[in-house]
Amino acid sequence: MNEVARVKDEGNKQKMTVSILDEEASKQKLPLDNLKETVIAQYGDDARLILDSIDEVEAILLRRQARAKGEFDDTKAIIHLSGLSKKYESAGMTPVDALKEVDLSIVQGEMVAVIGPSGSGKSTLLQMMGALDVPTSGGVRINFHELSKMNAKELTQFRSQTVGFVFQKFNLIPNLSALENVSIAMESTKMNRQDRRSRAAELLKEVGLDKRMSHLPGQLSGGEQQRVSIARALANHPKIIYADEPTGSLDSKTSKTIIQLFDKIRKDFDTTIIIVTHNPSIAKHCDRTVKIKDGRIK
Ligand SMILES: Nc1ncnc2c1ncn2[C@@H]1O[C@H](COP(=O)(O)OP(=O)(O)OP(=O)(O)O)[C@@H](O)[C@H]1O
Ligand SMILES: [Mg+2]
Repeated sequence: MNEVARVKDEGNKQKMTVSILDEEASKQKLPLDNLKETVIAQYGDDARLILDSIDEVEAILLRRQARAKGEFDDTKAIIHLSGLSKKYESAGMTPVDALKEVDLSIVQGEMVAVIGPSGSGKSTLLQMMGALDVPTSGGVRINFHELSKMNAKELTQFRSQTVGFVFQKFNLIPNLSALENVSIAMESTKMNRQDRRSRAAELLKEVGLDKRMSHLPGQLSGGEQQRVSIARALANHPKIIYADEPTGSLDSKTSKTIIQLFDKIRKDFDTTIIIVTHNPSIAKHCDRTVKIKDGRIK
């Protein structure tokens, strides 16, 4: 393919600029954001060639960034899945191969988007990585421990301290207030009741729910319940956050606030964040995107 576009890497994906190499517009530089739409609008039929080159170069840059982060050094991966498979089986039900031979490594501090069609295995993947269910075969090493080698006490500790879960269906306790739903996540810590309640109040304030603390889940909107579940996931400063469509019920302004909150947490605590999302702008915001289809990573 003739070279039609040249990408300049300034060490940061957001700052990449692309020079479109045609005669009329030589040396024209476009920022990466909105680049594709601009190219289509300006170059019509030639856009495909240009976009292909951009995709190619972008893929190379992403791989290079991943290597620079040591992602390919397996020993440094905070999440390491090898040959992970999950088959759901029960009497009278057609077995479902929800995950098939998934290999995946994620390094500490990465923010990774998981995308894929409904039923492709995204929630199943998070459940395996969060020790909420056991794989049919394959290994799951999280925070440098094989989950299959942990005993029940270690697993309980892992679920409450190492990882924070934002569930697709929120999983709030219906007869507890928003404040109690968050503070209960800290019950297994050494914090006293007062400290737990004040941290819960702080977190709810961060997600914009300071005026809803005493509401029960049933008295909150879907988006508000989702924000309570986000506050709960953050309660114990987890090393890893698994968020299953955390902005699925939120308007774009609130989604942005939540993503900014994730950004801040990652910056302050080097937290690793895995976000299942259907929202392209959130996926774009992440360091990289893992695509899953029919239980396999593409
Ligand atoms: N407990 C279960 N028992 C049987 N089959 C299940 C179970 N949980 C999930 N599945 C099946 O496994 C497949 C993957 O489901 P999963 O919930 O991981 O999909 P998903 O990618 O999260 O979808 P969505 O985007 O709709 O949330 C689906 O075909 C689903 O029907
Ligand atoms: Mg799901």
